[in-house]
Amino acid sequence: MSCQIDYQAPADLLAGRVILVTGAGDGIGRAAALAYARHGATVILLGRTIAKLEKVYDEIEAAGGPQPAIFPLNFEGATLKDYQDMAETLDKEFGRLDGLLHNAGLLGRLTPFEQYNPELWEQVMQVNFNGPIWMTQALLPLLKASQDASVIFTSSSVGRKGRAYWGAYAVSKFATEGFVEVLAEEVEHLGSLRVNSLNPGATRTQMRKTAYPAENPDTLRTPNEIIPTYLWLMGPESRGHNGERFDAQPPRT
Ligand SMILES: NC(=O)c1ccc[n+]([C@@H]2O[C@H](COP(=O)([O-])OP(=O)(O)OC[C@H]3O[C@@H](n4cnc5c(N)ncnc54)[C@H](OP(=O)(O)O)[C@@H]3O)[C@@H](O)[C@H]2O)c1
Repeated sequence: MSCQIDYQAPADLLAGRVILVTGAGDGIGRAAALAYARHGATVILLGRTIAKLEKVYDEIEAAGGPQPAIFPLNFEGATLKDYQDMAETLDKEFGRLDGLLHNAGLLGRLTPFEQYNPELWEQVMQVNFNGPIWMTQALLPLLKASQDASVIFTSSSVGRKGRAYWGAYAVSKFATEGFVEVLAEEVEHLGSLRVNSLNPGATRTQMRKTAYPAENPDTLRTPNEIIPTYLWLMGPESRGHNGERFDAQPPRT
């Protein structure tokens, strides 16, 4: 699906909406959380490093955005009970959820499959796929309680076409794409809930630097530059798009 890179979001695009962003302390998640708050959303900042989440919280407050909330969670150790408890807390606080950006991710190691460490494989699958889908299951009643809810799963180009050495990372993103299709069909009849996948494309973050250490970061788009698609897909103008694959930037030449 073509990207919405030139989308100009109105200032009040997300006013009154409650949006949860995973991996909100750094990289693309941080930029998305700040942009959602700037456009009026009450943002729940989820992540594993509290100090980073607190910085984002302070930035939102300093900019005069709606008061955010911090939800510390590490997908590696989180249990089904943690997700249920989380849903109960959000239900008490907000009564519904209008947006969920699954952004937290782990690269693992780029290595031939022959040498891939099985524990690392499990870890990557846990953070990139298993954790997020069980969290989604727990949050579904809250998403259904919204009149217009958008769930975005973050994919990758290696989750759409396999690439040597990308191991569990690529497989976790393929699984994510498949899951989006399954869940999207299940919620289609509701009309009020959409589930889509979004490939940010090469973006200047720590993860990209780890994957391509020799690359000049100045050749890459910054997280802020790819945010228009994140805004469009979270906002009401993307209503009706369900089970689709989006890109946040054109393919690199
Ligand atoms: N950058 C790219 O070029 C690119 C391209 C394609 C797809 N993506 C995808 O885009 C998403 C964001 O990536 P990024 O480049 O912004 O990466 P990043 O800078 O490394 O940020 C990843 C975020 O995920 C969080 N996270 C990692 N493990 C976690 C865990 N166990 N529990 C909770 N949170 C955890 C990190 O928290 P900490 O800060 O506490 O470590 C961080 O906030 C990922 O899903 C990635 O696969 C990125």
